[in-house]
Amino acid sequence: MKREVIVTADGSSTIHIPEWNEQYHSKHGAIQEAYHVFIKHGLSYILEIDSKKRLENNICILEIGFGTGLNAFITLLESEKHNLNINYTGVEAFPVALEEVAQLNYVQQLKAEVKLTEFTKLHEVSWEKNQVVSNTFSIIKQQKKFADIRDVNIYNLIYFDAFGARVQPELWTEDMFKIMYDALKNNGVLVTYAAKGSVRRAMQAVGFLVEKLPGPPGKREMLRATKVLEPDL
Ligand SMILES: C[S@@+](CC[C@H](N)C(=O)[O-])C[C@H]1O[C@@H](n2cnc3c(N)ncnc32)[C@H](O)[C@@H]1O
Repeated sequence: MKREVIVTADGSSTIHIPEWNEQYHSKHGAIQEAYHVFIKHGLSYILEIDSKKRLENNICILEIGFGTGLNAFITLLESEKHNLNINYTGVEAFPVALEEVAQLNYVQQLKAEVKLTEFTKLHEVSWEKNQVVSNTFSIIKQQKKFADIRDVNIYNLIYFDAFGARVQPELWTEDMFKIMYDALKNNGVLVTYAAKGSVRRAMQAVGFLVEKLPGPPGKREMLRATKVLEPDL
């Protein structure tokens, strides 16, 4: 499908798919959305609850849709800011080409010019192999379909950033959320920009505890789902 780089309302770029009239991020602001959904209500939230529960200091994150690498990059920036050890897994079936990456303005918009090497590295490192990108951040990019994920009990956090249910309804089903549920550790958290009732019910049907939270600019609500297992007696 044809893809073109466009600029969103906060000045940051994203990729637009004309055939679907769908974007990789919110048109109201790609960077704003990414920080709100995935950092504020995802990473920062699990750090808050982790520090209470004294969980391990290696944080494993799974991203559903590596795409432009924006979520991976802001997570890398956070890992350096808070001195966290992050192991990131980015799953993506249709990688963005390096010529497209060259048109994205995230490094400038985030005033992260000193981290240009790391942003480039996120895209240039080879797939299917664990790669150390910085002292605090390593990544494995896996080129495959989300439906083929078979990880069990690995992740503390999932960034569920698939295209919307309007264009890919098959990615917002009970089957898909069961795969996500299995991939999470106990108390693991999944965050997504979506807030549809059918999505919330599919999450609940596989066992997630689901919260509705205020959405990013231009969106009333978003969802956060937690895998809560009863402790062994
Ligand atoms: C909303 S975009 C992800 C945006 C990304 N998180 C970012 O920060 O740029 C959704 C991504 O899912 C990928 N994708 C779509 N269907 C897929 C599938 N069935 N399996 C794996 N990847 C898929 C697309 O190629 C696209 O990169």
